[in-house]
Amino acid sequence: MKDTFKIENMDTLGQGVSKKEGKVLFIKKVLPEEQGEATILRSAKGVHFGKVKKLEQTSPKRIEPECEHFQDCPGCDYLHTSYENEFAFKRESFQRIFSFLKPINDIDYIAAKNRLHYRNRVQLHYHQIKNQFGFVNSLENKIVSIPNCQITVPPLAVKIRELTESQNWRKLCQKPEGHLEFYYTGNEVKIQADARYSHEGFTQVNSEMNQVLIEYLDKVFEEQKFKNVVELFAGDGNLTKKQKFSYHLMVDYYTKTPADKTSLNLDLYSPKALAELQKKLGKNSIDCLLLDPPRSGFKTLNEWTECLQPRTILYVSCDPQTLARDLRSLKRPYQVKKLALLDLFPSTHHFESVSFIAF
Ligand SMILES: C[S@@+](CC[C@H](N)C(=O)[O-])C[C@H]1O[C@@H](n2cnc3c(N)ncnc32)[C@H](O)[C@@H]1O
Repeated sequence: MKDTFKIENMDTLGQGVSKKEGKVLFIKKVLPEEQGEATILRSAKGVHFGKVKKLEQTSPKRIEPECEHFQDCPGCDYLHTSYENEFAFKRESFQRIFSFLKPINDIDYIAAKNRLHYRNRVQLHYHQIKNQFGFVNSLENKIVSIPNCQITVPPLAVKIRELTESQNWRKLCQKPEGHLEFYYTGNEVKIQADARYSHEGFTQVNSEMNQVLIEYLDKVFEEQKFKNVVELFAGDGNLTKKQKFSYHLMVDYYTKTPADKTSLNLDLYSPKALAELQKKLGKNSIDCLLLDPPRSGFKTLNEWTECLQPRTILYVSCDPQTLARDLRSLKRPYQVKKLALLDLFPSTHHFESVSFIAF
């Protein structure tokens, strides 16, 4: 099935939105004001998803992508325009998502230092019977081969090219269909097949921008002089490495070291988690609740803040939609005082944010 389109705006997922006669069509890899013909790939509840078949009017913002796989690959969303434009789209998305917080004028926007060659960890999928290895394009239900990926750090790109061209990825597979995780430690490339969790636990995929995020938070800690901090979804303590709080409890379900006075292994989504944490806290009261959940966010944020009553909540998020949901749930006197967008995932529609919430 095909249809014509005229893109009105970009949505928060980096898709162009076309609205014609009440019909909404989402298309990736287009830009506002572009027109043409699309192939419809999926339709549900009157909403359609398609891909460009013919581009009849192009935007002056369009450029030649720096990656030969861009058009087909689901990894990147914005390489058909400059980084300046990409960042402007991200700022607009951010403002739209958080417009319910109005008036909030205090927003920091921190762009990425490098647009390409930054990802130090990547998951590629394989299908042995179909002889396919690459990124999953779920809209088209296929695996796209990416022998010249531009988003990964060079050692990963080289390894992926080698394995793709030689087809040696097949030697690493443990199942007919699965995934390989590539991780550059700074010294070597490690590859892990079909593991449920990231090899050696979670680490930020953009080392350079991770440093920017840490420095941003360091400044907040310096200004606020928090004494007692509970850090949820702490991982290996990446965000607070330099900090010396009087009391600091780090919580995560994956820790390299056994739980001690400063850390707690806990499934934070379990109904018993809050009670477990309170037991560990004992009589300690806290002035800062720092959290950095995965994309699913932290639905129980309001319940936790009502119980723990921190003076400040610092919410680091990689998903603005679940963050908005959780911020909406917060009750007065908590108010969002400041927001920051940090572009940890340039070329894609994803970004990181920090919300500063206080009485
Ligand atoms: C976005 S990462 C942040 C980690 C750390 N703050 C950092 O900057 O490296 C999310 C963390 O949540 C942890 N996590 C995911 N689901 C969890 C759960 N149900 N309970 C506890 N921790 C969880 C992961 O192990 C991971 O360390």
